[in-house]
Amino acid sequence: MNTMALRDILIHPDPRLKTVAGPVSEPSDMKKLADDMLETMYHAPGIGLAAPQVGVLQRMLVMDCVKEEDAPPQPMVLINPKIVWSSEETNVYEEGCLSIPEIYNDIERPAEVEVTWTSLEGNEQSQRFDGLWATCVQHEIDHLDGKLFIDYLKPLKRQMITRKMQKLKREKARA
Ligand code: NI
Repeated sequence: MNTMALRDILIHPDPRLKTVAGPVSEPSDMKKLADDMLETMYHAPGIGLAAPQVGVLQRMLVMDCVKEEDAPPQPMVLINPKIVWSSEETNVYEEGCLSIPEIYNDIERPAEVEVTWTSLEGNEQSQRFDGLWATCVQHEIDHLDGKLFIDYLKPLKRQMITRKMQKLKREKARA
Protein backbone atom coordinates (compact mmCIF):
# COMPACT_ATOMS: atom_id res chain seq x y z
CA MET A 1 0.00 0.00 0.00
CA ASN A 2 1.20 3.46 -0.82
CA THR A 3 0.11 5.81 1.94
CA MET A 4 0.63 9.47 1.28
CA ALA A 5 1.33 11.90 4.06
CA LEU A 6 1.15 15.64 4.40
CA ARG A 7 4.51 17.27 5.01
CA ASP A 8 5.07 20.48 6.98
CA ILE A 9 5.80 23.44 4.73
CA LEU A 10 8.67 25.66 5.92
CA ILE A 11 7.77 29.31 6.35
CA HIS A 12 10.18 32.11 5.38
CA PRO A 13 12.60 33.08 6.90
CA ASP A 14 14.32 29.71 7.17
CA PRO A 15 17.95 29.00 6.19
CA ARG A 16 16.85 25.87 4.29
CA LEU A 17 14.82 28.10 1.93
CA LYS A 18 18.00 30.05 1.13
CA THR A 19 20.17 27.00 0.38
CA VAL A 20 21.10 25.70 -3.07
CA ALA A 21 19.67 22.16 -3.23
CA GLY A 22 21.82 19.24 -4.38
CA PRO A 23 21.17 17.03 -7.43
CA VAL A 24 19.10 13.86 -7.09
CA SER A 25 21.21 10.80 -7.94
CA GLU A 26 18.53 8.08 -7.67
CA PRO A 27 15.19 9.35 -9.13
CA SER A 28 13.38 6.14 -8.14
CA ASP A 29 14.16 6.83 -4.46
CA MET A 30 12.09 10.03 -4.68
CA LYS A 31 8.67 8.41 -5.35
CA LYS A 32 7.35 8.57 -1.77
CA LEU A 33 8.51 12.17 -1.30
CA ALA A 34 6.96 13.17 -4.67
CA ASP A 35 3.60 11.63 -3.66
CA ASP A 36 3.71 13.39 -0.30
CA MET A 37 4.64 16.70 -1.91
CA LEU A 38 1.76 16.45 -4.41
CA GLU A 39 -0.69 15.70 -1.62
CA THR A 40 0.71 18.57 0.47
CA MET A 41 0.48 20.92 -2.53
CA TYR A 42 -3.13 20.01 -3.41
CA HIS A 43 -4.11 20.20 0.26
CA ALA A 44 -2.58 23.68 0.81
CA PRO A 45 -3.92 24.42 -1.87
CA GLY A 46 -1.16 25.47 -4.22
CA ILE A 47 0.01 24.95 -7.82
CA GLY A 48 3.67 24.17 -7.14
CA LEU A 49 5.97 22.94 -4.39
CA ALA A 50 9.73 22.43 -4.30
CA ALA A 51 11.48 19.85 -2.08
CA PRO A 52 13.38 22.49 -0.02
CA GLN A 53 9.99 23.86 1.08
CA VAL A 54 9.42 20.60 2.98
CA GLY A 55 13.00 20.62 4.28
CA VAL A 56 14.52 18.26 1.70
CA LEU A 57 17.51 19.95 0.04
CA GLN A 58 17.33 18.00 -3.23
CA ARG A 59 16.44 19.19 -6.71
CA MET A 60 12.86 18.05 -7.18
CA LEU A 61 9.62 19.96 -7.66
CA VAL A 62 5.97 19.13 -8.21
CA MET A 63 3.35 21.25 -9.93
CA ASP A 64 -0.14 21.26 -11.41
CA CYS A 65 -1.28 24.52 -12.97
CA VAL A 66 -4.63 23.31 -14.35
CA LYS A 67 -7.03 26.14 -13.52
CA GLU A 68 -10.38 24.90 -14.81
CA GLU A 69 -12.33 23.39 -11.92
CA ASP A 70 -13.76 20.50 -13.95
CA ALA A 71 -10.53 19.69 -15.83
CA PRO A 72 -8.63 16.55 -14.82
CA PRO A 73 -5.58 17.16 -12.62
CA GLN A 74 -2.20 17.19 -14.34
CA PRO A 75 0.37 16.45 -11.65
CA MET A 76 3.98 16.80 -12.77
CA VAL A 77 7.16 15.72 -10.98
CA LEU A 78 10.42 17.28 -12.20
CA ILE A 79 13.77 15.95 -10.95
CA ASN A 80 16.97 17.93 -11.57
CA PRO A 81 15.09 20.45 -13.77
CA LYS A 82 17.07 22.88 -15.87
CA ILE A 83 15.92 25.87 -17.93
CA VAL A 84 17.64 25.46 -21.30
CA TRP A 85 15.90 28.31 -23.12
CA SER A 86 13.95 31.45 -22.11
CA SER A 87 11.92 33.76 -24.33
CA GLU A 88 12.82 37.43 -24.56
CA GLU A 89 9.15 38.21 -24.23
CA THR A 90 8.08 38.49 -20.59
CA ASN A 91 4.90 38.03 -18.62
CA VAL A 92 3.74 39.51 -15.33
CA TYR A 93 1.84 37.32 -12.89
CA GLU A 94 0.76 38.01 -9.35
CA GLU A 95 2.82 35.37 -7.53
CA GLY A 96 2.37 33.83 -4.14
CA CYS A 97 4.26 31.11 -2.30
CA LEU A 98 3.23 28.47 0.22
CA SER A 99 6.34 29.44 2.25
CA ILE A 100 5.23 33.10 2.34
CA PRO A 101 1.51 32.83 3.14
CA GLU A 102 -0.92 35.57 2.14
CA ILE A 103 1.68 37.70 0.33
CA TYR A 104 1.14 38.34 -3.38
CA ASN A 105 3.18 40.48 -5.75
CA ASP A 106 3.48 41.07 -9.48
CA ILE A 107 6.67 39.44 -10.77
CA GLU A 108 8.02 39.72 -14.31
CA ARG A 109 9.60 36.62 -15.85
CA PRO A 110 10.23 35.19 -19.33
CA ALA A 111 6.85 34.30 -20.86
CA GLU A 112 8.09 30.96 -22.21
CA VAL A 113 10.79 28.55 -21.10
CA GLU A 114 12.08 25.21 -22.26
CA VAL A 115 12.92 22.87 -19.39
CA THR A 116 14.70 19.52 -19.27
CA TRP A 117 14.40 17.17 -16.32
CA THR A 118 14.50 13.55 -15.22
CA SER A 119 11.30 11.63 -14.45
CA LEU A 120 10.78 9.37 -11.43
CA GLU A 121 11.37 6.47 -13.83
CA GLY A 122 14.75 7.94 -14.72
CA ASN A 123 13.79 9.14 -18.23
CA GLU A 124 15.09 12.42 -19.65
CA GLN A 125 12.22 14.79 -20.45
CA SER A 126 11.97 18.10 -22.24
CA GLN A 127 9.04 20.47 -22.56
CA ARG A 128 8.23 24.06 -23.42
CA PHE A 129 5.99 25.85 -20.91
CA ASP A 130 4.00 29.06 -21.32
CA GLY A 131 1.38 31.04 -19.40
CA LEU A 132 0.97 30.16 -15.73
CA TRP A 133 2.97 26.93 -16.22
CA ALA A 134 6.02 28.94 -17.30
CA THR A 135 5.81 31.26 -14.29
CA CYS A 136 5.26 28.34 -11.93
CA VAL A 137 8.15 26.21 -13.17
CA GLN A 138 10.53 29.21 -12.94
CA HIS A 139 9.31 30.05 -9.43
CA GLU A 140 9.85 26.43 -8.30
CA ILE A 141 13.28 26.09 -9.93
CA ASP A 142 14.24 29.31 -8.10
CA HIS A 143 13.42 27.49 -4.84
CA LEU A 144 16.00 24.83 -5.76
CA ASP A 145 18.57 27.64 -6.01
CA GLY A 146 17.60 29.13 -2.64
CA LYS A 147 15.71 31.98 -4.25
CA LEU A 148 12.24 33.27 -3.32
CA PHE A 149 9.91 35.44 -5.39
CA ILE A 150 10.32 38.26 -2.88
CA ASP A 151 14.01 38.39 -3.83
CA TYR A 152 12.81 40.15 -7.02
CA LEU A 153 11.25 42.95 -4.96
CA LYS A 154 12.95 46.10 -3.70
CA PRO A 155 14.91 45.53 -0.43
CA LEU A 156 12.59 47.65 1.70
CA LYS A 157 9.51 45.76 0.53
CA ARG A 158 11.28 42.45 1.08
CA GLN A 159 12.28 43.43 4.64
CA MET A 160 8.69 44.41 5.38
CA ILE A 161 7.44 41.01 4.24
CA THR A 162 10.16 39.18 6.17
CA ARG A 163 9.23 41.01 9.38
CA LYS A 164 5.59 40.12 8.80
CA MET A 165 6.53 36.44 8.40
CA GLN A 166 8.71 36.51 11.54
CA LYS A 167 5.71 37.83 13.46
CA LEU A 168 3.47 35.15 11.93
CA LYS A 169 5.93 32.43 12.97
CA ARG A 170 6.14 33.78 16.53
CA GLU A 171 2.33 33.75 16.74
CA LYS A 172 2.21 30.20 15.37
CA ALA A 173 4.84 29.03 17.89
CA ARG A 174 2.80 30.45 20.76
CA ALA A 175 -0.48 28.92 19.58
NI1 NI B 1 7.13 29.18 -3.70
